[in-house]
Amino acid sequence: MKPEFETFARRLIAWQQAYGRHDLPWQTNDPYRVWLSEIMLQQTQVATVIPYYEAFLARFPTIQALADAPADEVMAAWSGLGYYTRARNLHRAAKVIVEQHGGLFPQDIDQVQALPGIGRSTAAAICAFSFNQSRPILDGNVKRVLTRWLGIEGFPGEKKIETRLWDLADKLVPTSGIAAYTQAQMDLGSLVCTRSKPNCNACPVATDCVALHTGRTTSLPTPKPRKAVPIRHTTMLLLWRENELLLQKRPDSGIWGGLWCLPEVEASLAAGAWCEDHDLELDSTTCLPEFEHVFTHFRLTISPVQCEVSGQGPRSAGPWQWFEREAVLAAGIPQPLRKLLSGRQVMLL
Ligand code: ADE
Repeated sequence: MKPEFETFARRLIAWQQAYGRHDLPWQTNDPYRVWLSEIMLQQTQVATVIPYYEAFLARFPTIQALADAPADEVMAAWSGLGYYTRARNLHRAAKVIVEQHGGLFPQDIDQVQALPGIGRSTAAAICAFSFNQSRPILDGNVKRVLTRWLGIEGFPGEKKIETRLWDLADKLVPTSGIAAYTQAQMDLGSLVCTRSKPNCNACPVATDCVALHTGRTTSLPTPKPRKAVPIRHTTMLLLWRENELLLQKRPDSGIWGGLWCLPEVEASLAAGAWCEDHDLELDSTTCLPEFEHVFTHFRLTISPVQCEVSGQGPRSAGPWQWFEREAVLAAGIPQPLRKLLSGRQVMLL
């Protein structure tokens, strides 16, 4: 049994037409819409992306509107999706498109890939969907399909394996039907050739799948060699002055860059000293249950401390602002703060 390269694309396209997704809101050939969806979908699932995508487009209907918008508003529209570098890069790229390409999304793949936040695979997907250019993609879904179908061992994020996969993906690209083929790979990876319990009975390339025929669908793709994830801890102060919460804007770089965050201290006992340093009187404190937020490289445990305060607070010059209770959720705030304020945090025992 040998994988049949010549018919791979044809089988995927036929399968896509019968069983793939045809009603996703970004299935157009408008490069702005395709670009936005591909960036949102880089680290977020389709069902989560759809409402953000619709709201983002309603707020920033064109590349020009996005380029002209204040960074804070772009961050607010992204708030809750996570991986905020994506939003900063999207905004920067919109400005580049306006300044260097007259506001028209470039069609040359090298120019597309030169935009902030667009790697080789995303550039290829955008060019395939928007401009019908035959280019290979290689995202997580495609890596899973190819490593299984061809029985390739080794972590696909490793340079040597990745180079080999790009080479194979390139060989499999069809000369026509690239949009359907590109969507087919994404659909096959997320609907059939899933990470756990793939549905091989429904797969158009099961007949010559090496992993299936050698009992390796569970072990392929080879997982990343795991390092222990460090745990960090922080205490966050919810400083309420009547109906207003004090937030601090983070500098643009680093985690939660550009977002409005709670002030942080070493431990709940430090709340009093913090208030004194910032022209506030601490009237009462209540420690709330600790909860956890997981990042790619570490876990953060957060101990929130609810404080009733009075007084002037930090001078309005600087990165501080009092937000009315109702306005906080509409601001650009990180996911754990959103969860905390809406009571959806998962508490640790
Ligand atoms: N994941 C990445 N791009 C996608 C797309 N265009 N449709 C569905 N899932 C995707």
